[in-house]
Amino acid sequence: MARTDERWALGGDLSVARIGYGTMKLTGWPRGDRPARETALAVLRRAVELGVDHLDTSNYYARDGVAANELIREALSPYPDDLVIVTKVGALVEGSDIALPAERKTGLTPDNLRRGVEANLRSLGVDRLDVVNLRMGDLDRSEASLAGPLETLLALREEGLIRHLGVSNVTAEEFEQARAIAPIACVQNLYNVAQRDDDPLVDACAAAGIAYVPFFPVGGFTPVTAGSLEAVAARHGATVPQVALAWLLARSPNILLIPGTSSLEHLEENIAAGTLNLSAEDLAELG
Ligand SMILES: NC(=O)c1ccc[n+]([C@@H]2O[C@H](COP(=O)([O-])OP(=O)(O)OC[C@H]3O[C@@H](n4cnc5c(N)ncnc54)[C@H](OP(=O)(O)O)[C@@H]3O)[C@@H](O)[C@H]2O)c1
Repeated sequence: MARTDERWALGGDLSVARIGYGTMKLTGWPRGDRPARETALAVLRRAVELGVDHLDTSNYYARDGVAANELIREALSPYPDDLVIVTKVGALVEGSDIALPAERKTGLTPDNLRRGVEANLRSLGVDRLDVVNLRMGDLDRSEASLAGPLETLLALREEGLIRHLGVSNVTAEEFEQARAIAPIACVQNLYNVAQRDDDPLVDACAAAGIAYVPFFPVGGFTPVTAGSLEAVAARHGATVPQVALAWLLARSPNILLIPGTSSLEHLEENIAAGTLNLSAEDLAELG
């Protein structure tokens, strides 16, 4: 079976294809170029046409008035029944908060977490968010605790505003702490073929039946490069990003992909990575 057809039940009941789409690059947040609005809308619509039913976003993915959630809503609302939109709240309430020093980011207070959830509900135009990740990044880590914020989100879930909870930018210890507080549908951390510090966490999630959703799957702001990637890509007539994505799909069945792109051509290429089956020899070469 092509991996393009493989699916995962997020939180046990939200079935998604293993290849989804991350929307951050459509906004140029926190830096860099962004596509023209019409291109951004076309990429979102084409993703869904190609079978993407899992979008990653946040209300703070917004710069110069271009906001990911508003693009999603304009492109895709009324939403297909099976579309799963995963969003996140955390230290950043507004996109511009990224400029604040770590110790001044206060987005984890109960009020700010509620504001973040409500901003996502409003901008996406939904009554309940499918999955909300508690993002522990951009904080003074010596001060930050996951327990209180997660309990706040659990209460918002009990209010009916959130279906499932996930965590992001967490350590293995925080993952275990989170699981003891609330059911966790997914972990979203930095991981790719060139950056594998999270190997034990990928395996811990797999053992627990929890999705692991790597951000920067093709390297984010620093595209993954290696001679071995190029050699494997050349053997398959594929591109390096395709091999990087295929490696993640082969790495563990609980890995779900959310590559970001502002290009229709790259979108098609990334989804086609699901048809690239790496051999044992390829995987050995990639290490
Ligand atoms: N939880 C967190 O803290 C966190 C942090 C970062 C990101 N995220 C989420 O994770 C998603 C994925 O991360 P990301 O978008 O930053 O990184 P990524 O998917 O690793 O890389 C995106 C970059 O790679 C390029 N690219 C993508 N496909 C390509 C292809 N086939 N060929 C050549 N270049 C290609 C894109 O440029 P083009 O536009 O030119 O294709 C873009 O510059 C984000 O969209 C966001 O939803 C979460």
